[in-house]
Amino acid sequence: MVDLKLAVLISGRGSNLQALIDACSRGDFPAGIVLVISNKPDAQGLARARTAKIPALTIDRRDHGDREAFDEALSQTISAHDADLVCLAGFMAILGNKFVARWRGRLINIHPSLLPAYPGLDTHARAIAAGESTAGCTVHHVTAEVDSGPIILQETVPVEPDDTEETLGLRVLAVEHRLYPQAVRLIAEEGSKRPAL
Ligand code: GRF
Repeated sequence: MVDLKLAVLISGRGSNLQALIDACSRGDFPAGIVLVISNKPDAQGLARARTAKIPALTIDRRDHGDREAFDEALSQTISAHDADLVCLAGFMAILGNKFVARWRGRLINIHPSLLPAYPGLDTHARAIAAGESTAGCTVHHVTAEVDSGPIILQETVPVEPDDTEETLGLRVLAVEHRLYPQAVRLIAEEGSKRPAL
């Protein structure tokens, strides 16, 4: 198996980051986190990374002239830490086409809906309003269009009749925490099957 070096990009709470930290701390997990980047200086996830002794830094869009300069700073920092796979985990900045093209195939995201249904924000509220009986989450490759790249893993949860956005969100989040590490494992195991070039 290949030990994948992960860069995890966050903007807030970082519970999916925590799930990846916990998975990587298990001896048999084929990946390790080399870097956490937040675009928000006050993201709770930064403290989680520091507690786990993982290099954690902020790259704030406001410190960079335009989006391209911001993307370039991200790319350079990720490359400097020699990461193999970039995991977006609640990263709320939209990445430009150049960044996406540069990391294509090595850039994944977790989204709290059964894509292609409900891309974007407020997924749980929209699923409840539409009367869905099933919701879930998706880990997917990132492509130029938001929340639309090839799906790596997906898992469903039921929508209960009395669900609110919060109760459904918590049910989905519990599955996210299992699914994201599972997807990273899958990518690492796939990589190990490829012949060395
Ligand atoms: C998760 O629901 C994830 O699917 C979405 O943003 C949320 C991030 O939560 N992309 P957390 O910061 O990982 O707790």
